[in-house]
Formats: sequence, structure tokens, C-alpha cells
Amino acid sequence: MRVAVVGATGAVGRTILHLLQERSFPLDEVLPFASPRSEGKRLGFRGEEVVVLGIHDRWFEGIDLALTSAGSAVARRIVPPAAAGGTVCVDNSSAFRMDPDVPLVIPEINPGALENHQGIVANGNCTAITALMPLGPLHQRFGLRFLVTSSYQSVSGSGMKGVRELAEQVDKLHEEVETLTSPDREALPVGEVFGRTIAFNVVPHVEQFDPEGSGFTTEEIKMGNEFRKVLVIPDLVCAATAVRVPVVTGHGVSIYARFEHPVTPEEARAVLAESPGIRVIDDPVRNLYPTPLDSAGIDDVLVGRIRRPAGDDHALLLFAAGDNLRKGAALNAVQIAELLVARDLVGNR
Ligand code: A2P
Repeated sequence: MRVAVVGATGAVGRTILHLLQERSFPLDEVLPFASPRSEGKRLGFRGEEVVVLGIHDRWFEGIDLALTSAGSAVARRIVPPAAAGGTVCVDNSSAFRMDPDVPLVIPEINPGALENHQGIVANGNCTAITALMPLGPLHQRFGLRFLVTSSYQSVSGSGMKGVRELAEQVDKLHEEVETLTSPDREALPVGEVFGRTIAFNVVPHVEQFDPEGSGFTTEEIKMGNEFRKVLVIPDLVCAATAVRVPVVTGHGVSIYARFEHPVTPEEARAVLAESPGIRVIDDPVRNLYPTPLDSAGIDDVLVGRIRRPAGDDHALLLFAAGDNLRKGAALNAVQIAELLVARDLVGNR
């Protein structure tokens, strides 16, 4: 089994390489790819060095499985020819998620969707996955009908460049934090990734505003689309607000969900406690609840603050936190790859 990791020098790609080792993925050779800038760089893998390769026209030849995480524009160019050439591609970008011929898979929730893949499998959006981990089992049991989400998204969701931008701004501002009670707005640092000051601030703008003028961002629209596709609820009403926060890794999502059937917080906790990939941390009396930092570096999505709004016994509020580089991206992709291998769905389409 020859496995390519495309975008191997990036935030998600590095985590994929790490997880392939940590989870003893059954591979004979790993081939890291990145942009021409990184060609020849060396990365550690299983105690040895592997050399980063550049993408060329026939990059996929001899590769059984590719885990691609180099953004949508690159994916649109390099993934379809690879899939047509027989390399099964698990793509982390949004390029193919809504394609009806491409399964969008969260292994704990809709593993069956993998069966009819045609060479491309899409990995979900990092915030959508964090929310779907608890919503999947709750939907199974109570029938999801209506959803409002507010997400608190860390800067590594924008890649290593996002992490660097936050670090630079914190560095610049930390000597003068007291001036931020009445800041000189003209002097605040603004970088290319977030377009506004992200240090000591929150920015209700992730990706671009909808060119159709709905007022939502493309990130917010993606979320509803992915919830509907993964849960197979074509008419699910969903309204999302996505906010960038000065957290390095770990996305938080506040969820308000309405169900067909009545539900109590105790029932919801019991369902979630039995669901794989979820850890319920929900003991307000002891100040126990999930935070994004608690989720960084671990596999489980943390869920807590489970409660019911007064006067509506079909609704629940909850807060989920998940590592956007692990379950939100690299881990989910590696789990998809593990399923493809276990079900013999690589190399014999
Ligand atoms: P590079 O490091 O050489 O720029 P992140 O999301 O953390 O910014 O990472 C994006 C990843 O995608 C990096 O590994 C980056 O490589 C890679 N990448 C960017 N453009 C290309 C390209 N044209 N072909 C292959 N990989 C690319």
C-alpha cells in the first residue's frame, strides 16, 4: 500500500502524518507532497526521513490511496485525474463535498455512504464534524428537525498561516494590553489571513460573504449543507453563525436543536455517553464542561452544557468542542482511509 499525503507540510497534513504513525496505518510507503516551495524538504516518519515531493501531472501513478489537504483550488486540479487513474482520494477540502457522486463521510455516523464511492471521498468541514458527532446519535434517537449553531473557530482552521498571524499580533499587543480598553484603531495590527485584528478579539466572519447576498458566509452555508447531506435530512432548517476566535486549536460549537420527539437532557446524555468518539463532560455543579483547549490534541469530541430551554420539551441546547486538526480534519480522514482498507474499497473499483 503506497499512501500519499498531499499538503504534508501544512497544519492538517502534518497531523495526518502523525496519525498514520500513531495508529499504525497499514502502509508500505508514505509519499508526502506539497507545493514546489517545499520540494526536497525532509519530514520525519516512523523514525526515518521522507522527502517532500512536488505535484506534477502524473503525481498519482503507483499510489493506492491519497489523503489530500491542500485547499479547494489545488484539489479541483489534482484530485479528479488521480481518481480517474485509480488512486482513491480522501479530500479534506470543500471542493467535492456537495457532489452527489462523492460520499461525505464521518465514520461514526454514516460509514455506509463509503460503499459506492467512485474514487473520491470527501472529509467534512471541521466545525460541521464537531457538531455532527453529537447530532448524529441524537438525530437517530429523537429525529432532528431544526438547528441553530454558533461556532467559535480556532485560527489553525486557516492553516499554519493563521496560527502565525495570531502569534505575531499577540506578540505585538501584549505589552500594551491596557491600551485596548480604548484602542487606537488605526494602529491595530491587521493581517492577510483574517482581515481584522484577531488577537484579543473575535471576528464574526469566516471565509467569504455569500455572493448571492443572503448575508451568510460560505462557511455558514457549508454547515447547513453538510448537516443535511451527512444526516440525510434534505429539508433540515439550519442557521449557522461562524466566528473566528483567538484560540490556536479546538473549535467550540453552541447548538440549539429541535427534535421530532420529546427529549430530556438525561436521555440525551445517556445516548451520547454510549456513542463512539464522544466524551460527555457535563457537571455544572463541579464546573465541569468542555472547552476547546481541553479538546486540543485528543481524538474525542467533548460535549457538555446539555440543557433544555423552558417551555419546549422537544429542544436541547449543548456545547461541543473538538480538535479541528484531528477529528475535524486529519483524524476523520485517516479513519475514512482505515475503513476503505478494512472494507477492501481501495484498488479494486
Ligand atoms: P507548502 O507548505 O509548500 O506551501 P496550510 O493549510 O497549513 O496552509 O497548508 C496547506 C498545504 O497545502 C501545505 O502543505 C502547502 O504546501 C500545500 N500546498 C499549497 N499549494 C500547493 C500546490 N499547488 N500543490 C501541492 N501542495 C500545495
